[in-house]
Amino acid sequence: MLASLAKAFDQAAVREIEVEYLGRSGKFNDIMKSLKDLSDEEKRTVGKLANVSKIELEAAVQNKYSMLESAAFDVIADTEWMDVTVPGKKPELGHRHLISKFIDDLEVIFGRMGFSVAEGPDVETEHYNFDQLNMPSDHPSRDMQDTFWIKNLNRMVLRTQTSPVQIRHMESHEPPIRIIGMGKTFRKDNDATHSPMFHQIEGLMVDTDVSIANLKAVLTHFLQQVFEDSSIKTRFRTSYFPFVEPGMEVDCTCPICHGEGKLSDGVPCTLCKQCGWLEIGGAGMVHPKVLENVGYDSNKYTGFAFGFGIDRMAMIKYRINHLRLLFENDLRFITQF
Ligand code: FA5
Repeated sequence: MLASLAKAFDQAAVREIEVEYLGRSGKFNDIMKSLKDLSDEEKRTVGKLANVSKIELEAAVQNKYSMLESAAFDVIADTEWMDVTVPGKKPELGHRHLISKFIDDLEVIFGRMGFSVAEGPDVETEHYNFDQLNMPSDHPSRDMQDTFWIKNLNRMVLRTQTSPVQIRHMESHEPPIRIIGMGKTFRKDNDATHSPMFHQIEGLMVDTDVSIANLKAVLTHFLQQVFEDSSIKTRFRTSYFPFVEPGMEVDCTCPICHGEGKLSDGVPCTLCKQCGWLEIGGAGMVHPKVLENVGYDSNKYTGFAFGFGIDRMAMIKYRINHLRLLFENDLRFITQF
């Protein structure tokens, strides 16, 4: 048995030997059973010897088990060790998106001019997105905003503009009003400068005696602050939006070439395509019909409103050449800002 034990290389082999020799029907018990055929004197001598041998054999088995166990630990120690002194891995932290940060900046700039933030839903009713803005269903101006209608929901749309925020706010507040509304807007557009989802900032100021001069002052100051350039000038071109009268497109001088169309070394400016001006968005004096739609006295109150593309302004400020970069969520791009 001791010779077999010496050759056993794992605990299962030792167990087999243990059962073969020391088990209930093992060889050792066979010897004990054969004692009955011996004389009393022989029984005593052989019995004593057998007991001592059994204790020794059991000890040898336990010894072998312990040896194998510590050998197994040696293997584990060699193969499964770890270096607890290695510095930990830093978890990768997220990064705020440029547009989220930019929206905060816009809020701060308008906050300083006394404008507070108003909210509206991304999924709007036709009533707020169009009808209350003087764009009834047969109005051709609806064609300018190719719209996502929500299937099976009665006349609901993904809002095409932030202008419905004006209506919702005026319905629940009395003048004086000074608000901005910012958020996602949706249209069936898709090219280098138009995306199906984009962001707009809407502004509304209503009070007695609000004039185009106020509109120009607020927007000029705003654009100078956004582009961090006090030399920025604004230009208003007549345009048409059914909810303002008069309506206009707002342009500002190009922050790269400062309205010159070329850089100081004579190189043509590519941002404004050499024209010196950039189109920023629409604006105008709130149409009296819109004021009346929300129950205001249009003889007493006047107001201005504007709506700018947030993504477009961020692209100008941070010199981003493709709108889609803002929405692909590529960390190599996002972490640059
Ligand atoms: C409007 O949406 C009007 N609601 C703005 C307005 C508000 C006028 C209040 C008068 C008074 P317009 O469709 O031009 O206007 O959009 C405004 C700006 O949104 C555009 O100048 C452009 O910067 C941005 N924009 C429009 N469509 C997209 C698009 N698909 N992707 C990215 N930006 C867009």
